[in-house]
Amino acid sequence: STGALKDQLHRPLQDLRISVTDRCNFRCMYCMPKEIFNKDYAYLPQRDLLSFEEITRLAKLFVAHGVTKIRLTGGEPLLRKNLEELIHMLSGIRTTSGQQIDLTLTTNAALLKQKAQSLKDAGLNRLTVSLDALDDHIFKQMNDVDFPVAQVLEGIQAAESAGFGQIKINMVVKKSVNANQVIEMARYFKNTPHILRFIEFMDVGSSNAWCMDEVMSTAQIIDTLANAGMPLVALQANSKSETATRYQHRDGQGEIGFISSVSKAFCRDCSRARLSTQGMLYTCLFATAGYDLRQYLRSNEPNQDSNQIDVKISNLVASIWQNRQDRYSELRGSAMIAKDVASQKIEMSYIGG
Ligand code: GTP
Ligand code: 5AD
Ligand code: SF4
Ligand code: SF4
Repeated sequence: STGALKDQLHRPLQDLRISVTDRCNFRCMYCMPKEIFNKDYAYLPQRDLLSFEEITRLAKLFVAHGVTKIRLTGGEPLLRKNLEELIHMLSGIRTTSGQQIDLTLTTNAALLKQKAQSLKDAGLNRLTVSLDALDDHIFKQMNDVDFPVAQVLEGIQAAESAGFGQIKINMVVKKSVNANQVIEMARYFKNTPHILRFIEFMDVGSSNAWCMDEVMSTAQIIDTLANAGMPLVALQANSKSETATRYQHRDGQGEIGFISSVSKAFCRDCSRARLSTQGMLYTCLFATAGYDLRQYLRSNEPNQDSNQIDVKISNLVASIWQNRQDRYSELRGSAMIAKDVASQKIEMSYIGG
């Protein structure tokens, strides 16, 4: 099979986001609130996780179908033991046209200071860091585990030193908590090579008590920045399926992105597939059901060699993608999404941001 897989809305399969653990050392209120992710929470047992060999095997099949970009997520991916080994394995995969894949990772940076160099050495191309505030008190309120912001900033510095030139900084804005950090964040990153991206608080999963009042929209942030003396001008998109719309400061210093999944859905060009920690394939961040790929990897059917199994999985992936119709963010709020569906959504920490 070679490239050009299209879904029902003619969207190609280009990105694979792989969750490598459902655990995290933070308890961000919008993602893994403490009340639910407490000591009684049933995380996946080790045997349920895809092994690095299994992940790499699946990744190769996806790349053969046209995927050019792989993002490792979680939970917190740096918590997965020996992650560098997986990165090394994935970085060896070549696209159908012989190119290297774009291999990247999203982290909260708590462990980045000690890991940045080894991640770079293993072959990681790019890095995205989640950072919701610069004020230490507010940052601690957001991560809810008393983690100091200084250590995240040290992690970013370590990544710079290790050779990750331009880092994407993701800030989720929850109005009542960190809206007052928007200006400071923009100022801080303006004179760095990094791209600050504001993310609208989403109704992902079913445990984060989402409500529209807590969403600070892209339009509101653009106004806020303009009023603070930081007017922005729009930039051209890098690619059609990009999550963020690109801007830069009017004086030419510093790129800023907006991920407006609530106020302006970007499903139309969504080319992302998601592989969960235990090998479920989801065709939307807001999916209520996935497809178990691991069962094929681990099936002990006699008379079937691994090559035949690969063909089977590959065909399955193709037909799942070709049948795909998801566009949750576009339908959000409309009558088409029943209440009961909305309460069965998979948690972000499991499906991968
Ligand atoms: P780049 O290719 O580096 O720009 O990364 P990305 O934007 O694809 O990935 P990243 O993990 O940085 O995504 C940023 C945030 O955008 C995620 O944490 C989510 O909050 C949101 N997001 C990413 N993909 C989707 C998606 O397919 N649908 C929706 N609704 N939100 C998404
Ligand atoms: N809304 C928006 N983004 C979220 N993330 C997690 N939960 C949410 C949510 N409810 C994203 C953030 C974070 C990444 C790991 O997942 O971008 O940086
Ligand atoms: Fe952990 Fe990231 Fe979720 Fe925060 S947003 S709890 S850092 S996975
Ligand atoms: Fe893609 Fe689903 Fe997000 Fe829309 S809501 S952009 S279809 S993952």
